Amino acid sequence: MAIRVDGADTPVVELGVPGDKSITIRALILSTLARGTSVVGGLLASEDAQATAAALRALGAPIPELTTDGRTLALNGIGVHGLASPGEAIDCGNSGTLARLLLGVLAGCSFPAVVTGDASLRARPMRRITEPLARMGARIDELGDPDRLPIRITGGELRPIEYASPHASAQVKSALLLAGLTGGVPVQVTEPLASRDHTELMLRAMGANLSNERGPGGENIVRLEPPEFLEPLHCDVPGDFSSAAFFLALGALSPRVGVRVKGVGVNPTRTGFLDVLRRMGGQIYLDNACDQCEEPVADATLYPSRLRATSIGAEEIPALIDEIPILAILAARAEGETRITGAAELRVKESDRIRAIATNLKSVGVGVEELDDGLLIRGTDAPCTGRVSAFGDHRIAMAFGILGALPGNSIEIDDPGVAAVSFPGFWDRLREVQETFFP
Ligand code: S3P
Repeated sequence: MAIRVDGADTPVVELGVPGDKSITIRALILSTLARGTSVVGGLLASEDAQATAAALRALGAPIPELTTDGRTLALNGIGVHGLASPGEAIDCGNSGTLARLLLGVLAGCSFPAVVTGDASLRARPMRRITEPLARMGARIDELGDPDRLPIRITGGELRPIEYASPHASAQVKSALLLAGLTGGVPVQVTEPLASRDHTELMLRAMGANLSNERGPGGENIVRLEPPEFLEPLHCDVPGDFSSAAFFLALGALSPRVGVRVKGVGVNPTRTGFLDVLRRMGGQIYLDNACDQCEEPVADATLYPSRLRATSIGAEEIPALIDEIPILAILAARAEGETRITGAAELRVKESDRIRAIATNLKSVGVGVEELDDGLLIRGTDAPCTGRVSAFGDHRIAMAFGILGALPGNSIEIDDPGVAAVSFPGFWDRLREVQETFFP
């Protein structure tokens, strides 16, 4: 772990983070659907990424083994109509993104397939995807509880769709675009606010005709004319901003050492965390900007600073949806009361994150109130000690790992291993940073 002193005389710890989870899942799916060989570096090899590779292999794609060194891999495409019927149910593990994007892909394939997942994924809503897919002509059979996996989807002849989604959800948007791609029909999706646009950027890079415009009320309208084939992908996946956010938060909260995360994706549909942190008084610097996989990338540095409370409302949520657990930790250390609203989606993530954050903050002595759609968090300087639950959720485990790593705090987490869903090696990295910070 490198430590350097820059012009501001503040030492910074430098580190990298594994590849972006959202982009990795899309790169694996889209390079499978391409014609020709894609060459992709920096792919994430976390549990969600491995589940994606396994799902695609079950559908006949020759996906090589994913390795944690992020080495460049050749991914042989089998074309938009090349997938084959899987023998057994496809297990998406913990990954909502995989389940939902895969249902979209399968909607345009003329064979039945059963999609399922672990207990957490089987508790998450699926009709937000399956209703519009059914409208396009896919047959949906819910094999368990209503609105839940396991689901048998039988795709085939699809109709075009113009869909106004009630959710600002990249998973809904991407599922429909992928259905348009494999089904060969035009798709228009309107979402109330822009969600992450990795699918759009990648489809365009692969030669698809895709347009994107803002409606009169600020809504995001995306249209795809399905191409006959996709060009292969040649790129390096950027570091995952959502993984970087944990260490950037540590830099902001540390007494005297900053953190620089190198080569991290800074797509503006993902970086609302930085806007909020700036408002809280965080000192943030982005440099060495470049593009990777059509995505903006930079080195992000956070210097220690005194943070103050803020309010986060509905319009900001899509660009920081996955960072609310770590924002809650920053709020717990800020001066004043932070109010997060318009975030009811958090209740249907890998855990009910509103409940999980509130329960855990209470357990370590932080004043918190649970709202239907958010949280009120009262910042404190008092030591945070106690035992918390990860609630089976990688981001809850990592967020409380960061709080526990601060000097004076001591937090035990019941299931730290869940971090491997998105960030293999997180705890080793945290230990190394801690040793550098607080030797
Ligand atoms: C993701 C989209 C977001 C996000 C999830 C990853 C994606 O979910 O929370 O972790 O890769 O498309 P929604 O689209 O449901 O908001």
